[in-house]
Amino acid sequence: MRVMQVDASPKRAHSSSKMLSAYFIERLRKSMPDIDVDYMDTSIEAPPHLTPAFIEAMYTPATDRSLAMKQVLSYSDKLCARALMADMLVCAMPMYNFCMPSSFKAFIDHLVRLNLTYTLNADGTTTGNLSRQKILFITTRGADLRPGSPWQKMDALRPALTAAFSFMGADDPVFVDVQPLESHDAVLKATVLDQARLSLDSIAQRWLADI
Ligand SMILES: Cc1cc2nc3c(=O)[nH]c(=O)nc-3n(C[C@H](O)[C@H](O)[C@H](O)COP(=O)(O)O)c2cc1C
Repeated sequence: MRVMQVDASPKRAHSSSKMLSAYFIERLRKSMPDIDVDYMDTSIEAPPHLTPAFIEAMYTPATDRSLAMKQVLSYSDKLCARALMADMLVCAMPMYNFCMPSSFKAFIDHLVRLNLTYTLNADGTTTGNLSRQKILFITTRGADLRPGSPWQKMDALRPALTAAFSFMGADDPVFVDVQPLESHDAVLKATVLDQARLSLDSIAQRWLADI
C-alpha cells in the first residue's frame, strides 16, 4: 500500500494541517504497519512555476520532443509517476486568501499532464487517470466558511481542488475542512480539531476496510 502524503503549509512547527495529515497517516499505520509513505512538502520542495518552455514541451507529442524538452518536463514526469503509483493521496493545506497556497497550485500545474494523468479521447472528451486512487484533502481555515456562514461564498479552495482533481479522474475525493481555527475561543478551536480527528478516524477505517 503506497500513500503519497503532500503537505503545503509553510509552517515548520504548529501547523494544524500538517498535524492532521500526520495523524491520518498514523491511523493508517496502526492497522497497516508496512504502508509505504511517499512524503512531499510543497513549501520546501516547491514545484517551479510553469515557463514558456514547459508549455511548449508539454504540448509537443512525446515522440517529437527534443532532449531539452524532455529535461524541462522531467520534474513533472516524476511527480505524475509518484501520484499514479500511489494507492492513496493525502493532501493537507491551509486556506490562503480563500484558495490554496501557491506551492500547491504549482504542484497541480505539474500534475495535470496529457497522456499521464489524463487522456484525450477521439471524440474530444478527456478521461482522468487518477480514478484508482483514494484521495483525501485536509484543509485548515482561520475563518468559518461552512454552509450558512456569511463567508461561505468566499470558499474558492474546495471548488478549485474538486475541479482540478475531477479533471484527473478523482470523482469522489473526501474533504475534511477544518474551521474556524483562528477563533479567540480556545474551546471552539479544540472542539473543531477533535471533530477533524474523529472524521479522519472514520475515513481511515473506511479506506482500510475497502482494501
Ligand atoms: C497568508 C495567509 C492567508 C490566509 N488566508 C486565509 C483565508 O483566506 N481564509 C481563512 O479562513 N483563513 C486564512 N488564513 C488562516 C489559515 O488558513 C489558518 O490559520 C490555517 O489554520 C493555517 O493552517 P496551518 O497551521 O496548517 O498553516 C490565512 C493565513 C495566512 C498566513
